[in-house]
Formats: sequence, C-alpha cells, structure tokens
Amino acid sequence: MAFVVAVAQQKGGAGKSTVAANLAAALAGEGHRVALLDTDPQQSLTQWHAERQKQGGRAVALTFENPSGWRVPAALDRLRRVQDFVILDTPPHAETEAKLAIRAADLVLMPVQPSPADLWASEATLRLAAEEKRRVAALLNRVPAQGRLRERILADLAGRGVTVLGATLGNRAHFASTFLDGLAVTEAAPRSPAAEEVRALVAAIRGLAPG
Ligand SMILES: Nc1ncnc2c1ncn2[C@@H]1O[C@H](COP(=O)(O)OP(=O)(O)O)[C@@H](O)[C@H]1O
Ligand SMILES: [Mg+2]
Repeated sequence: MAFVVAVAQQKGGAGKSTVAANLAAALAGEGHRVALLDTDPQQSLTQWHAERQKQGGRAVALTFENPSGWRVPAALDRLRRVQDFVILDTPPHAETEAKLAIRAADLVLMPVQPSPADLWASEATLRLAAEEKRRVAALLNRVPAQGRLRERILADLAGRGVTVLGATLGNRAHFASTFLDGLAVTEAAPRSPAAEEVRALVAAIRGLAPG
C-alpha cells in the first residue's frame, strides 16, 4: 500500500505545486514507485508534466494523473494499491478536491512561508485536517536562513501542536527555473543547495512513512 501525501495549504502561492513536483520526482529518483496527482483545476502540475514529457532521460519515470472532483477518490483507490507513494497537489481554498485529498491522506504536508498571511491561512488547513483526523507536518518554505519572524512562526505552529519538519526549503531561483522545464531540482541541478534541501525533505517524509 502506498503512503499518501496530500500537499495542502489554503493560501495560494505557498509552494504546494513546487513541493509536490519536487517531492514526487525525488522519491521516484530514489527508485520508489510514485504517482503524482494534480487535483488543482489551475493545473500547474499538468503543465509541468507536459514540459516533463519533452525531457527524455533527464526526467525520471513517474505516474501522473489529473483527476478532478469525485474522480479523485477513485484514482486514489486504484493507485494506492500499486504505488509506494502517492503525492497529491491540491487547490487553494477549501475546495472539494482539497477536502477529498486530505480525507484520503496518510499525511498532510502543509507548506508555510514565514509570513503572517501564510500562518493565518494555515488555520483553515489545520481545521480541515483535524476534522478528518489527519496527521499534519508543516514545511517551512522560502525561509531566510535565520530571523525573528521564522522563530515566531515556528513557535506559533509548535504551540498549536503542529509537527514542523526540520527540513526546510530556502528561497531559491532553482525552484522556479527547473519547474518551467518540467524537472525537479534534484534532476536539473543535483548539486544545488535547493536539491540538497529536497533530499532532506525526502528523507523526512520517508521517516514518517511506515516500514
Ligand atoms: N522555495 C522556493 N524558492 C523560490 N521560489 C519558490 C519556492 N517555492 C515556490 N516558489 C515560487 O512561488 C510561486 C508559487 O509556488 P507554487 O508552488 O505554484 O505555489 P502554490 O501551488 O501553493 O500556489 C511559484 O512561482 C514558485 O516557483
Ligand atoms: Mg499550485
């Protein structure tokens, strides 16, 4: 059975699609069977995947689908039996797809940028996960190396009992440029700090999966 990770955060631009793509491709690069599902009607990952098809051997193989609405649970039921990991990208706001993805997830991975707006927007995602009794791990994204804001956000999340991953992603141009090419940073720039961070994220997620 697959470990199902829903990348969810009510706030648009938090990094859901970036995290989902990089996590999926990096896990696949380690030899896991991975399915990546784009459930966001905005379809950024679908465009990422279309670019990916042009990359040949640079892009590691993964299963990609873009189900919407009631098709999401059916796709999940089918894929979780044959994959090691299923990664779901979800729309912002509490749309049907986001709820269905959270309901089906073993882990809700919630990117949070160190800004008050992102922190406040997290509340809706946390509430949804709590309603569905789902486990949540927050991932700090686009973080400065240090700073008081980061510390306050960490303290706030910890105060709410949210697990915050030790792995964090910095604000790095490679995340945007490689996404345009349909690649993960681990594929297009494997020696970059961004790739190093994604490998640490993958290790953290593997650590949360059973077995
Ligand atoms: N760690 C990062 N460093 C630099 N740019 C980032 C990072 N994470 C996301 N971005 C950029 O921020 C924008 C929004 O990210 P995206 O993944 O589309 O967010 P969401 O899916 O939550 O709306 C994109 O242009 C993306 O390239
Ligand atoms: Mg997105």
